[in-house]
Amino acid sequence: MPHVTGQVRFSDIGAVVFDAYGTLIDISEITNQCRDALGDKAEALSRLWREKQLQYTWLRSLMGAYVDFWHVTSEALEYAMAALGIANPPLRALLMQLYLSPKIYADVLPTLQQLRAKGLRTAILSNGSPTMLAAAVNSNVLRPSLDAVLSVDAVKTYKPHPSVYQLAVDRMAVPATRILFVSANGWDAVGAGHFGFHVAWINRSGLPQEALPHRSEAEIKSLAELPALLGL
Ligand code: LAC
Repeated sequence: MPHVTGQVRFSDIGAVVFDAYGTLIDISEITNQCRDALGDKAEALSRLWREKQLQYTWLRSLMGAYVDFWHVTSEALEYAMAALGIANPPLRALLMQLYLSPKIYADVLPTLQQLRAKGLRTAILSNGSPTMLAAAVNSNVLRPSLDAVLSVDAVKTYKPHPSVYQLAVDRMAVPATRILFVSANGWDAVGAGHFGFHVAWINRSGLPQEALPHRSEAEIKSLAELPALLGL
């Protein structure tokens, strides 16, 4: 059974909208593939790169200084490598390249296919730039299992700005109250819930709930729990 806070079963959901990085895409695999070159700094780089990548999206949104996620990801990597004393331009280029063919979690494809087979619409709603998302989706053959791939680039700001979540409502033509949003990023789950989506937080890292003004209705450990949660 799903690990559900408040034991909810969602009904009358028309579309399931997924976050990408950390939720469908296993970003830890990117630095893992350069473990030999990174040595004992692999873990620290992975953590700091992601931390800075997210911080920069929030800071740039507050500053009104949007650049796309590729640019942000590259600048975050520049900072993380400098902070850890890693001076290796070819390695930096390789790490960025790996973002274009990332690995997905094993529970992604079967779940998407199952939801689609039951008549639900599916989409990605991500900070990723359109180019990054297209590359990730194509390299994992996800496109046939998705109705839409939506990037924040259309509104030139980042999650958790409400205009980002509104994109899914507009593009899917499904009201927020009939959308289930799924994210592994606790803060993204909060933002989506605050906006008005139903939310399932996939807690892949075993973290506590964010102490922010929204609690996910459901907490799951695997995407495979979604069909049962939707009563399918
Ligand atoms: C995304 C970030 C939050 O895919 O991981 O939007």
